[in-house]
Amino acid sequence: MLKKTVKDIELKDKRVFTRVDFNVPRSQDGSISDDTKIRAALPTINYLLLHGAAVILASHLGRPKGRVQENLRLGAVAKRLEEQLDQKVVYVGAVTGPEVTRAAKELQPGQVMLLENVRFHPGETKNDPELAKAYAALADIFVSDAFGTAHRAHASNVGIAAYLPAVAGFLMEKEITNLSRILHSPQKPVVAIVGGSKTADKIGVLTKFLQLADTILLGGGMANTFLAAKAFQLGKSLVEKDQLQQAAAIMETAEKHGVKLCLPVDVTVAFDLHDATGARNVSVGAVPADMMVVDIGEETRKLFAAHIREAGTVVWNGPLGVFETDAFAHGTIAIAHAVADSGAFSVIGGGDVVAAVEKAGVAEKISHLSTGGGATLEFWQGKELPGIAVIQDL
Ligand code: 3PG
Repeated sequence: MLKKTVKDIELKDKRVFTRVDFNVPRSQDGSISDDTKIRAALPTINYLLLHGAAVILASHLGRPKGRVQENLRLGAVAKRLEEQLDQKVVYVGAVTGPEVTRAAKELQPGQVMLLENVRFHPGETKNDPELAKAYAALADIFVSDAFGTAHRAHASNVGIAAYLPAVAGFLMEKEITNLSRILHSPQKPVVAIVGGSKTADKIGVLTKFLQLADTILLGGGMANTFLAAKAFQLGKSLVEKDQLQQAAAIMETAEKHGVKLCLPVDVTVAFDLHDATGARNVSVGAVPADMMVVDIGEETRKLFAAHIREAGTVVWNGPLGVFETDAFAHGTIAIAHAVADSGAFSVIGGGDVVAAVEKAGVAEKISHLSTGGGATLEFWQGKELPGIAVIQDL
C-alpha cells in the first residue's frame, strides 16, 4: 500500500485520535446483533496501546442527523469493546465539550476512551472545520481505520486530517490491499456475483465489472429487472420499470465485451416476501401471476456454482434472494458454500452477504470479508474515497 500506516509513525506517549467504524447492526431491542466491526478494529487499537499511545476512539452509529438520539448512544459499544480488549474504556457520553477535553487530557498511555456517536453533532456530516479542529485539539496523531465510512467526507474521518498527521490503521490497510487485488491484475477467470434488490444502486459497480470480470452472475431482486427486460413475465415480483433500458444496455455491453452475464434460469416463488407457505421452484418462464420471485432456484444454484468452481477470483456484493426470510436464504447460502469451496481468491462486500457467509459457517474460507457497504462499492468503481485520500502517502 502506498499510504503511511501506524507502523510509520512514532506512537509512544502520543494521544491518537482513531476513527473507527462501530456502526454495528442492532436487534429490535437495541442490543448489538453482530460485533464484527468492533472485532475488526482490535488489531489497530491493540497495536496503538502496545506502542505506548493513549487511544481516543470516534465512530458514528446510524444516521441521527445531528441530534442526540438515545437509542444510538455508544454505551453498549463501549461495553462490548471493554470485553474484547479486556480493559476499561472511558466513555463520557459526549462528542465535544469540557468533559471530553478533560478526559482526553487525563488519558494515559495504554488507556482507551470512546467519544459519543459523532453524528449527534450537527457539524460532523457537514465536515465543519471548527468541529474537525476540536477533534484535532484532543490528540497528536490521526489514525484512519474506518474503511466503511471512507466514502463520506465528514469531520471525524476527513476534516481532522487538515490539522493532524494522518496514517492508516490495519483494517484500512487490509481493506485497501484486498479490494485493490480485484482492480489490478486479478487471477483469471474473474467471476462477479451481484445481487440485492435495486439495480440503480449497482449500475456503477456492474459497469466496472463489465471491464474486469469474465463472468457476471446476477441474482436478487435486481435480476428480476434484467429478466423483465428480456420479456419474462414475473407475476407480482418487484421489477424496476425505470431501469429496464439500463438493464438491456448492460446485457448488450456484456455481449459486446465477451462477458458472460448469467441470469437465473429458475427461481423460488412465493405469495409473500416473509412467508414460505406455498413457495415452490419454477423456471423463469413459468412464474405464476399471483406469486413473486424470492430466491434463485435449484438449477441456477448449480449453474452458478459451476462457474464459481472454475474461478481464479470471486467478487460478490448483494444477496441473491430475500435473505431476511430464512426460507428464502437458501440460494445465497448455497452460493456462499460454492465460493468457500472454490479455492479462488474471494472478496465479499456488504453486510447482508457477509451475514450469509457467517450463517453458512464458511467465513473462515473467504479470503476477505469487507467491512464496507457503500465504501466497497465505490472503491470497486475505482473512485477515490475521501477517507483514504487524506492519509499521508508513503
Ligand atoms: C456502513 O455501515 O456502511 C458505514 O458505517 C457507513 O454508514 P453510512 O452509510 O450511514 O454513512
